[in-house]
Amino acid sequence: MLIKSLLVTKQNKSNRIPIWFMRQAGRYLPEYREIRSQKRDFLDLCFSPKLAATISLQPVERFDIDAIILFSDILVVPHALGQKVSFKEKVGPILQPIKNVKDLKFYDNKHWNNFLSPVYETIDLIKSKKTNKTLIGFCGSPFTVLTYMIEGGTSKNHNKIKLFIKSEPEKAKEIIDLLVNISIDYLSNQINAGVDVIQLFESWSSLPQARLYDDFIINPNKKIIDTLKKKYPKNPIIIFPRNSENNTEKLLNNVNCDGLSIDLKTPNEIIEICKKKKIIIQGRLDPIRLLKGGRQLEKKIQEDLEIFKTKNYIFNLSHGILPETPISNVEKMIKIVRNYETT
Ligand code: CP3
Repeated sequence: MLIKSLLVTKQNKSNRIPIWFMRQAGRYLPEYREIRSQKRDFLDLCFSPKLAATISLQPVERFDIDAIILFSDILVVPHALGQKVSFKEKVGPILQPIKNVKDLKFYDNKHWNNFLSPVYETIDLIKSKKTNKTLIGFCGSPFTVLTYMIEGGTSKNHNKIKLFIKSEPEKAKEIIDLLVNISIDYLSNQINAGVDVIQLFESWSSLPQARLYDDFIINPNKKIIDTLKKKYPKNPIIIFPRNSENNTEKLLNNVNCDGLSIDLKTPNEIIEICKKKKIIIQGRLDPIRLLKGGRQLEKKIQEDLEIFKTKNYIFNLSHGILPETPISNVEKMIKIVRNYETT
């Protein structure tokens, strides 16, 4: 499938490079902080359809960028499985760590689908606004979600998860299988509710190496993508295998994605491979450059646009936007991309 038009909506000229950015709905926006201050618990916000829909729409209303990403979080999935998740300011997510699939309270899909139904309502509300923008749904890829479930939150060294997949691979695979199933159900329901494109966030794909990369990164993503492709051949799927470096090629040889979100460590050969395979490239401005602004930002954006203009390309960041990023820098970035003509 040639998807140059992945994010080129009806009103978007085809010679314009599409743009959206990861964590575009978030703390750098005063209108987000305003709504956030009303809810003590971040997950409450994710499960409040009206507020979540309003937040999802904030970046397109402010910047008129090409895509809306559903406002939610990858950690709603362990929460739906009965693992308590909370978010602490300046710390991040906190989960009651598990060691075994049996430590989870809920296995049956009826329960988790009910639990996640406010997310589908959010999608419905966003679609009812008829914005003409591409709506991106998402979930965390199984290994990345497993990382948080085992570590109990963000970790500096990831010792627990590294040890777990090496010393107890069978137990790890049992949880992965459950996450594959819930992810297929969850994403299918997101598509049924109206999302156009899916993004899979594999933020910790740098951790498993060699055969473990096949078992924990390639196989679960392949299962999800193959199943969704059969059910929904028209909905493009983007994968973000963050910091996969030299494993990226192996991933692309096995996983039938339509788009690849690249980061600062993605090898140059991958860009050529994507061109041959007609895979859309999405990326890859360093969020720190966007935070700092100034001449270096303008120069880097121009450079990237020159490199990528002959490819199927969506402008984005190499990771989520940082909360301290000045809005004027975001406006500058969008203006440069918007004024750039590919022909
Ligand atoms: O705008 C969007 O991109 C859509 C919404 C979205 C959020 N998180 C909102 C959010 C998406 C797609 C995510 C994905 C996500 N969440 C990932 C994968 C991408 C990545 O960053 O690697 C991961 C690993 C998470 C887990 C997570 N959620 C962490 C580690 C944190 C704490 C760090 C932080 O930025 O605070 C979150 C919290 C979170 N998710 C916030 C938002 C807007 C901030 C919460 C707040 O307002 O306090």
